[in-house]
Amino acid sequence: MNFNNKIVVITGASSGIGEESAIRFAKKGAKVVLVARRKEKLLHVEKKILEFTKDTLVCQCDVSNKDQVKKMSEKVLENFGRIDVLVNNAGFVIYGKVNELSIEEIESQMETNYFGMIYSTKNFLPQMLEQKSGHIVNVASVGASFSIPGVASYCATKFAMLGFSEGLKHELHGTGVDLTVVSPIMVRTDLFDHPSFENFTKNATGISLSSETVAKAVVKAANSPRLEIVVPSVVRAGIWAKHTFPFLINPIIGSAFRKQLEKRGSKE
Ligand SMILES: NC(=O)c1ccc[n+]([C@@H]2O[C@H](COP(=O)([O-])OP(=O)(O)OC[C@H]3O[C@@H](n4cnc5c(N)ncnc54)[C@H](OP(=O)(O)O)[C@@H]3O)[C@@H](O)[C@H]2O)c1
Repeated sequence: MNFNNKIVVITGASSGIGEESAIRFAKKGAKVVLVARRKEKLLHVEKKILEFTKDTLVCQCDVSNKDQVKKMSEKVLENFGRIDVLVNNAGFVIYGKVNELSIEEIESQMETNYFGMIYSTKNFLPQMLEQKSGHIVNVASVGASFSIPGVASYCATKFAMLGFSEGLKHELHGTGVDLTVVSPIMVRTDLFDHPSFENFTKNATGISLSSETVAKAVVKAANSPRLEIVVPSVVRAGIWAKHTFPFLINPIIGSAFRKQLEKRGSKE
């Protein structure tokens, strides 16, 4: 797809993967809408991308709040009259055993990571269907296929996102609108700045990516017929092995990540 003058809405655009994706789309001439809660960070990103594109829009919005997402989508459609790409990227994670996390902490991850994606999708999809064009890119995680100790509730939000995306993609067949999920392994971003990650070894998987690498996959996804792009693609073999031989793979995964969880020291 030629992204020149396309309207690209990115949630979670104030840092990390969202920020890099905004820069990458802007470099391709897209008009980028930056969505997140921290306005000063969004203005900083806007300043960076104004070097490449004239048309941007900053929307301060908490995606877990359905009224705010409705207002944000109305503002976007009033301003531009259409939407070509929606990147549902906003998300966060709280590290800890299920027994340590409060119900509210578990709910809050689902509200942002899963329902935030639902609210944006529900508000922009009718316009895309009317246009008979548009692409939704949902940023999930390898954690949408492997749930590991310490992030069970976070992984559940990404399993939910992948499941919803698969069904919706089938529904969209023949409409001109499409959807692709981007599932990266660990990425070096502020995601791990949450206090619950104190004493966490960031390279536990042995692989970590730059946000530029994932942003490249996000732009590719916006023009891809595939359901899921796993980054790096070699991890696909691991996902296949886990689904095919769970009795062999799950004990290895469980043991490796349990060690990490225990090293951190239990709060119990
Ligand atoms: N880093 C990784 O290892 C990794 C791996 C796989 C998948 N992912 C996924 O990639 C996505 C981006 O994360 P990142 O790694 O780039 O981390 P990040 O740098 O912390 O970025 C997270 C973004 O989400 C926004 N956000 C969080 N809660 C929000 C809310 N309620 N409403 C609106 N915006 C919200 C944040 O902005 P404000 O705080 O300004 O609202 C920020 O812009 C997440 O969905 C994450 O689950 C990350």
